[in-house]
Amino acid sequence: MKDPFIPVILGTARPGRRSQVVAHHVFDTIRRRGLVSELVDVADYHMNGTGRESTTTSLRHFGEVIDAADGLVLVAPEYNHGYPGELKMLLDSQYEAYARKPVGFVSVSAGLLGGARMVEQLRLVAVALRMVPVSPAVHVSKVGDALNETGSFSSPSLQAVLDDMVDEVERFARALTPARIPVA
Ligand SMILES: Cc1cc2nc3c(=O)[nH]c(=O)nc-3n(C[C@H](O)[C@H](O)[C@H](O)COP(=O)(O)O)c2cc1C
Repeated sequence: MKDPFIPVILGTARPGRRSQVVAHHVFDTIRRRGLVSELVDVADYHMNGTGRESTTTSLRHFGEVIDAADGLVLVAPEYNHGYPGELKMLLDSQYEAYARKPVGFVSVSAGLLGGARMVEQLRLVAVALRMVPVSPAVHVSKVGDALNETGSFSSPSLQAVLDDMVDEVERFARALTPARIPVA
């Protein structure tokens, strides 16, 4: 198999979002391991509703990314105990191309629980898309203190969980390749 392509989706478009720096760190971590990745920013997609946007080019690009992906990592904050609506709309713009691809989760929160409640909801969405959610999840609590001046996690144990999650996504990306139905 070629090196797995594992895009990272940043799932909030909120001006001033702190999840952005976390998504960059996750993206860097994946690339440092020699995997191919792309940082997909939900803010680049101008949707007027599910599957609707002012131009169709960008959603077409998102479809190409999902088609080509061997697995995904979703990075999103917890908003009112759920996931951001714009992430759900972007995910809902595609369907078949997710099937039998692993997905890992990174949640971001200013509070102590690190967005864990959001991840449990997002897992159910991933299952509906026929994705394979991996067990280790990264919960970034107190995001204001979680990254150092170089943009890396300050906590070695948080980095260890991220490495473990990426390991699992890579392992399942390779293992599930024969199980995937080619998308026409
Ligand atoms: C609309 C909204 C709802 C939020 N709900 C929660 C929440 O349920 N739990 C939580 O820990 N933080 C919540 N927060 C605070 C976020 O944890 C905080 O904004 C953090 O920086 C991550 O979000 P960001 O990427 O938008 O900055 C909420 C923030 C917004 C803007």
